[in-house]
Amino acid sequence: MPQIPDNKDACELLDADHIAVKHLFVEYARLATAAPDDSAADRTALALKICAELTVHAQIEEEIFYPALREALPDAGDLLEEAEAEHQEAKDLIAQIQALGQADAEMDALVARLNGAIEHHVKEERDELFPKAKAAPEVDLVALGEQLRQRQAELAGQAATT
Ligand SMILES: [Fe+2]
Repeated sequence: MPQIPDNKDACELLDADHIAVKHLFVEYARLATAAPDDSAADRTALALKICAELTVHAQIEEEIFYPALREALPDAGDLLEEAEAEHQEAKDLIAQIQALGQADAEMDALVARLNGAIEHHVKEERDELFPKAKAAPEVDLVALGEQLRQRQAELAGQAATT
């Protein structure tokens, strides 16, 4: 993950993740188109980085962000259930990419599908979930941002040592 300034609130922090991973998807697609035969090692590294970053992102959303919203926003239940179902779809694609382990046409197709799934996830958070969270006085987005940031650092540290 890129360095996140400590003052980002929960929505800003999560959206910074969305933007960072989008850059990785764009770079992957560029390499897959421009140099499919010569960029396999770089694409493999990018794909594994995308998977690692999205895994942490989904985990901090599920552990911290979604439960806080579920408690504060009873009418967001359906939206949160849908978000969790979509996380599961992304996790299945991530598992398939990790199992392949090497960039090839099959991985290119899986990464493209994952990109589409994440674009959808990002759109729903930006258009629906974040505005609801921002409008709810009982949701402390600054405190949640701090919790997300700490857990993200912890998980990134674990990934780096395993
Ligand atoms: Fe997200």
